[in-house]
Amino acid sequence: MSNPKEPAKTDINSPSDNIRNGATDFSYPIGIFDSGYGGLTILDEIRKKMPEYDYIYLGDNARTPYGTRSFDVVYKYTLECVTHLFDMGCQLVVLACNTASAKALRTIQQHDLPLIDGNRRVLGVIRPTVEAVGEMTKSKHIGLFATSGTVQSDSYPLEIQKIYKDIFVTSEACPMWVPLIENNEHNSDGADFFVRKNIENLLNADTFIDTIILGCTHYPLLANKIKSYLPEGVKLVSQGEIVAKSLAEYMLRHSEMNNRCSKFGTIRYLTTESVEKFSSSASLFLNEEIKAEHIDLG
Ligand code: DGL
Repeated sequence: MSNPKEPAKTDINSPSDNIRNGATDFSYPIGIFDSGYGGLTILDEIRKKMPEYDYIYLGDNARTPYGTRSFDVVYKYTLECVTHLFDMGCQLVVLACNTASAKALRTIQQHDLPLIDGNRRVLGVIRPTVEAVGEMTKSKHIGLFATSGTVQSDSYPLEIQKIYKDIFVTSEACPMWVPLIENNEHNSDGADFFVRKNIENLLNADTFIDTIILGCTHYPLLANKIKSYLPEGVKLVSQGEIVAKSLAEYMLRHSEMNNRCSKFGTIRYLTTESVEKFSSSASLFLNEEIKAEHIDLG
């Protein structure tokens, strides 16, 4: 006989009847956070690799973009979103946003987590990307496309230096790319102009680059366009698979966390903006129909 308290396995994207205030007695999802839609490129790969877990995706679409905001503001917004996900039962939150990983992760890990609950965890996307990319370059010259915030934070060069002393990083901020994607203009001719301009800037700054990191979770939507302008032999690296592999390995190494995360294969999508807008735009990223729920923060 089944455990009477155990909730029925819910349909994908259909909250269970057992949900009260967003959490069930048994639902301890993995939280995936981004300023907007970009983190969906990470969620997609994580769910392919780890379909059995429960997930809550939170897009802070009302306050996107984060890429041009100050450290203090990105930290404040990110902490609000992480706290909301914790309140909904998440034991582990992935900041599927490079800007938040660059500007808020360390403070949340070192200052806030011990005060909130020392057993919860928040992970970012920069460290796993850096670990993977260091193995890919032959010339030891890496390029980075990212938001202005991530570039200004110097997080990528600093993390790379910690592990690979001989790798040289050149960064190019691409402030137009997120707005193009968020406004569904990434396949337009206007997008070609900005993509070519940023590629030229990067490759003129360092002609030895053989590997380029797409250091913003929105950018995979521009990957085909970017590749079409890259010289032969230059690799373009998206983060989705790298982060998914790293999370799966984390769960293997941390059985106490793995045991605390529930596994009913459910997913919920939360947005701080309108649910209609989120649902239609998110479908572009995921190639599937989704239903979002609205939340208020702050
Ligand atoms: N997707 C976010 C990142 O990976 C940035 C988008 C934004 O500027 O809000 O950096």
